[in-house]
Amino acid sequence: MASKDPVYIITGASKGIGLEALKYFVTIPCNIITVSRSIPEELSKILDAHKNIYHFCGNVSDTEISDIIIETVEKLGGKINAIVHNVGVAPILKIQDTPVEVWKRVFDINFFSMVDLTQKALPFLRNAKGRVLFVSSGVAVKGKQGWSAYSCSKASINMFAQVLADEEPDVFTLAIRPGVVNTSMQEYIREQMKNGFSKEDIELFENYNKEKKLKDPKEPASVLFNLATKEKLPEKCTSGEFISIDDERLASYKTFKSQ
Ligand SMILES: NC(=O)c1ccc[n+]([C@@H]2O[C@H](COP(=O)([O-])OP(=O)(O)OC[C@H]3O[C@@H](n4cnc5c(N)ncnc54)[C@H](OP(=O)(O)O)[C@@H]3O)[C@@H](O)[C@H]2O)c1
Repeated sequence: MASKDPVYIITGASKGIGLEALKYFVTIPCNIITVSRSIPEELSKILDAHKNIYHFCGNVSDTEISDIIIETVEKLGGKINAIVHNVGVAPILKIQDTPVEVWKRVFDINFFSMVDLTQKALPFLRNAKGRVLFVSSGVAVKGKQGWSAYSCSKASINMFAQVLADEEPDVFTLAIRPGVVNTSMQEYIREQMKNGFSKEDIELFENYNKEKKLKDPKEPASVLFNLATKEKLPEKCTSGEFISIDDERLASYKTFKSQ
């Protein structure tokens, strides 16, 4: 199974941004390791068509998943060219209504799973001078009612990326802000907003949808794919930065633009 082709890891590849990213990666010669809890039909068809995808079904907060990923990396030859840490869950609840168990679950999925996989992956990332891309969010830097646990988990990711960059000069890392994207996460957010949030907030998220202001998931997916695979790193970008996909320094990495 050892392979000369690059090795990429995408978490949360069953739908949304992760699935669209996977569709880009299958267009180049490489090995792709993916994770999600479910295998919807679209993913199932892609897995059937591409024998270079090693998909693991499970919860990323279970450390056995990262162990299986690393075992696969070793079998493929012991290098990781890039990780796209894309998994994320976003319960929309006010602080007064968010039990600490929910905070812990959000951090386990959104943050500690990334810490665990990144730690285990480091020797293989150093080997390949690899890249670590964290899918973060605008709410990592802007507090807004209802977003407490999610925002705090994304703010932690941003800081983790900075420290990782400082400690690991051979690994290039970015925390990426994808914008407001048309995925099932946005549908879930619109539903949750109805539970006691301000009229303005409900309208804000309804209007993103009604006025077709949501980005196509292919847009952030194209940026993630190009950042992971292009030989050249983006000019004037510092490892560890939190950066929007709309930043002009990433313009040439955005090969798909929403209408
Ligand atoms: N959509 C937006 O507007 C937006 C904005 C800012 C940031 N983001 C970030 O972008 C990333 C992708 O979001 P998305 O909008 O594409 O969301 P999505 O459509 O809900 O997809 C999330 C993906 O993560 C997987 N996943 C969730 N929990 C998991 C777990 N415990 N273990 C394994 N896999 C899990 C899901 O697969 P299964 O359900 O099959 O497990 C799915 O593949 C997230 O980090 C999110 O925070 C999104």
